[in-house]
Amino acid sequence: MNYSDVFREIASELDEIEDRGQLAAYIPELSHVDPSQFGACLITTKNEQFFLGDYKTTFSIQSIFKVLALALARGLRENHLWDRVGVEPSGSPFNSLVQLEYEQGIPRNPLINAGALVVCDVLLTHLKNPRQEFIEFVRDLAGDQDIDYCSRVADSERRTGHKNAAMVNLIKAYGNITNDVDRVLDFYCDLCSIEMSCNQLAQAFLFQAANGINPLNGREVVSVGRSKRINAIMQLCGFYDEAGEFAFKVGLPGKSGVGGGIIAVHPGKYSIAVWSPRLNAKGNSFKGMKFLELFTTRTASSIF
Ligand code: DON
Repeated sequence: MNYSDVFREIASELDEIEDRGQLAAYIPELSHVDPSQFGACLITTKNEQFFLGDYKTTFSIQSIFKVLALALARGLRENHLWDRVGVEPSGSPFNSLVQLEYEQGIPRNPLINAGALVVCDVLLTHLKNPRQEFIEFVRDLAGDQDIDYCSRVADSERRTGHKNAAMVNLIKAYGNITNDVDRVLDFYCDLCSIEMSCNQLAQAFLFQAANGINPLNGREVVSVGRSKRINAIMQLCGFYDEAGEFAFKVGLPGKSGVGGGIIAVHPGKYSIAVWSPRLNAKGNSFKGMKFLELFTTRTASSIF
């Protein structure tokens, strides 16, 4: 299918819709982004590529990193991750503290902030040089050595991320964080700050559409079983308290970030990244969600 025509059609329809979203100003550095930008990129498992708008402009991937951190952690031996984090949807906002106390420091899933902090703790324990190894993992997935952290965004979040600090301390109090809390927070802020374009994201996530194999180099990123499970977690937990809505309207495993990016995959077919910085009330890209809803309907390519 030639997705370029569908991209253009949807883009002109979205131009008519008022973008009612807001920038993620709670991380001050993210409020400096030009909110009118919009990009999309789809890459098929046969490496056909389709683009739209600002698809080469990099932005802060924020929570999208959580899926890549999970993929890297799952490849590490003996880390007992599933004893420390659940796989159930939370139905709560990404930064909620409420369930954590009820559930005694075991986060509901690895894609809410609490769960990602535990995954960061696992990576810190098991990797020799976590910061360097993580970025190399992402660069290899995307086939692009230019991908990097953004210290301005990471520092901005370090100064204002009081809820995450509360969260990591609470989890530590329940004995589910092994490293120093400041080290975990620091690493988490770095991973959130990674900057990528829609093009790089679609490429980096293609392994999740290809049974865990990176089609760029034929290497296994995760086993078939792990790839299946990571897609299931994205489907159920990738949009927090809007996960049902995303399944209902879009129908693909996916993950959002407060930088306005969304990645979604159709197992066996394609990965697609969209970016529009203004967020809806649940912290997910307002136009990005609409774009994907129209896209999977027009192309009859929801998994449902
Ligand atoms: O921890 C935070 O609040 C941000 N660095 C990441 C949150 C995020 O991207 C939620 N996703 N939509």
